[in-house]
Amino acid sequence: VVIGDSNTSRLFGRGIARALKPSAERVTSLEFPAGERSKTRRTKERIEDAMLEAGAGRDACVVAVGGGVVTDLAGYVAATYMRGLPLINVATTVLAQVDAAIGGKTGVNTPLGKNLVGAFHPATAVVLHTRALGSLPLREIRSGLAEAIKNAFIADRKLFEELERCEALPGRIPQDLLFRCAKVKERVAAADPLDRGRRQILNFGHTAGHAIESALRYRIPHGYAVAAGMAVEGALARVPGLDRLLALLRRVGLPTGPPCDFETAASALRFDKKRSGGAIRCALPLDIGRMDESDGTWLREVSRRDFRAAWERARK
Ligand SMILES: NC(=O)c1ccc[n+]([C@@H]2O[C@H](COP(=O)([O-])OP(=O)(O)OC[C@H]3O[C@@H](n4cnc5c(N)ncnc54)[C@H](O)[C@@H]3O)[C@@H](O)[C@H]2O)c1
Repeated sequence: VVIGDSNTSRLFGRGIARALKPSAERVTSLEFPAGERSKTRRTKERIEDAMLEAGAGRDACVVAVGGGVVTDLAGYVAATYMRGLPLINVATTVLAQVDAAIGGKTGVNTPLGKNLVGAFHPATAVVLHTRALGSLPLREIRSGLAEAIKNAFIADRKLFEELERCEALPGRIPQDLLFRCAKVKERVAAADPLDRGRRQILNFGHTAGHAIESALRYRIPHGYAVAAGMAVEGALARVPGLDRLLALLRRVGLPTGPPCDFETAASALRFDKKRSGGAIRCALPLDIGRMDESDGTWLREVSRRDFRAAWERARK
């Protein structure tokens, strides 16, 4: 069952379905309207009903073709349909290639928040459809590059330095660099598949980033918010190499400070999933390629005062 959104089905899904025909007993193609607003239980139900009508059984396989919206949603379908089907993610955005398609988190949004219902269901295979990036708008490429840069910054100093030296960014991303950014995500997720500890390091920039997204009512691409969030949290950590991180973000056309003031975003912080017992918790870097373990939780509690001060430093 090849699942894509209205863009990725047209651009890639149909071709993939055709290519699969000779080797599969039957190929069913399903699509839903592109966009985050489709990532709902309702869409999941529709896809499941269409699969049932098409007679997909326990021997079926889901092939998700698209960005993170498709891999999250189709992945969640694969996790629960007939109690679980194998999943192949064909990632067609930078964000999906270095992040969303890898690591097994699948799910949908609810009216109360993003990704609140879902399951762990790792893909059997993840294909980085690098040629697909040719049709991806620059804004989407930049947004994905924020996560790629984050992956390098938190866990692979050498890779970060290669990204710094890569003059082709953001227009062209060399395949090997993209692959290595994806590998960081794979390694970190594989070491902590259920998100109980070290995997938190992937959330560098995301505490502030989520607050920014929420304050701007999701009118800013996720990666742009994460880039701004890394500027805040990097300032909070007073990490050596922050100037280099900001220089790289600036060069690829990403924000290097929060686009709104602290108070506007502060109310949104109340809903951050990483908050426990009223404190703000952040995954903070110690240096390029090295994150703060914080007694094994990989998250540091931060006072509102310190968080605000870092926010204001980053906004200057
Ligand atoms: N599961 C995880 O671990 C994880 C991690 C990070 C993000 N996510 C999720 O990923 C989602 C965002 O993913 P995204 O940024 O890939 O967004 P997306 O899937 O909405 O794709 C962005 C847009 O680009 C279009 N598109 C995709 N590939 C294209 C191509 N090659 N050429 C032209 N257009 C193309 C899509 O149709 C869509 O309109 C969010 O829902 C987020 O929650 C999940």
